[in-house]
Parts: sequence; C-alpha cells; structure tokens
Amino acid sequence: MNRLIMMAAFVLVAMGNASAADDKAKLMARGQQVYNEYCKTCHQANGQGLGAVYPPLAKSDYLKNTPMPQIIKEVVNGKSGKIKVNGKEYNGVMAPLPKKYNDQDIASVITYVYNSFGNSGPTVSVADVKKHKKK
Ligand code: HEC
Repeated sequence: MNRLIMMAAFVLVAMGNASAADDKAKLMARGQQVYNEYCKTCHQANGQGLGAVYPPLAKSDYLKNTPMPQIIKEVVNGKSGKIKVNGKEYNGVMAPLPKKYNDQDIASVITYVYNSFGNSGPTVSVADVKKHKKK
C-alpha cells in the first residue's frame, strides 16, 4: 500500500515537471516569434543592440539586475530616460508594446529574452504579466 502511494506520488511529480518544461518550451517558441517580428528591429537578431541608441539584451546587466516586475512594466508600457547597460549609457525611447500582443505573447517574449543570447533568467508566466503589467 505504501509503495503504491509512493509510486503515485512519483508519477504526479514527474508529470508536474514534464508540464512545466512543456510550458517553458511553448513560451520560448512563441517568444522567439514575437522577438523576431517586433523586438529584433531595434535590439537586433542576437540581442546585441545597435550603436548608441538600442541597448543590448545579450548578457545585459540591466536585465539581470532589474526585478522582473519592472522589466514587465517597461516592455509593456515603454521606457525612456537615461540607463546604463553593460557600462554604456543610453538615453532613448522604447515605445509601448503594440496592443495586438496579448499576455501570453508578453510572457513568451520576456521568457525568451531572459533565456536567450547568453542570459539565464526566470520563466515569466501569464499570471506574472497580469499582475505587473499595469503602470
Ligand atoms: C523601436 C525600438 C525598440 C523596440 C521595437 C524594442 N525596444 Fe527595447 N529598448 C529600446 C530602447 C531605445 C531602449 C532604451 C530606453 C532608454 O534609453 O531608457 C530599450 C530598452 C530595453 C530594455 C532594458 C535595457 C536592456 O538593454 O536591458 C529591455 C529589457 C528591452 N528593451 C526589451 C525589449 C523587448 C523584449 C522588446 C520586444 C517585445 C523590445 N525591447 C522592443 C528600443 C526598442
């Protein structure tokens, strides 16, 4: 009987892990689409940024050191003013995200950026986006 319970618990835990990995794979796949369709114009194909205007996302210390709720707000609502990324100053304007992108798209693209270009960050859920996207 005990063994049965243990086996059942094991199966449940294994299933939980598989679905979390599955969710992340989906977020990453959709995130890459949104990135290539929208963010890439400014931040470039490998997140390396462009010149003095568009800061890099690749190994960005700003991305790493800024709390996730603020990153969500900035990507959704836009961001302007002076910032320093990897030792270089920027003072540009990032427009708000077009309304056609829904919360799933937002969770996807931020998860993608957090886990691409040499970055290793968290997975962003739709619930995180709903909670933090308002100004
Ligand atoms: C029209 C150009 C443009 C697009 C499109 C754009 N950004 Fe930005 N982004 C900028 C600029 C300019 C800044 C710097 C703003 C400042 O100087 O305060 C910035 C800053 C950032 C930062 C913080 C700084 C850093 O380098 O870590 C993040 C994170 C970011 N963008 C993510 C994204 C994501 C994700 C997308 C796509 C959903 C995106 N951006 C689309 C222009 C853009």
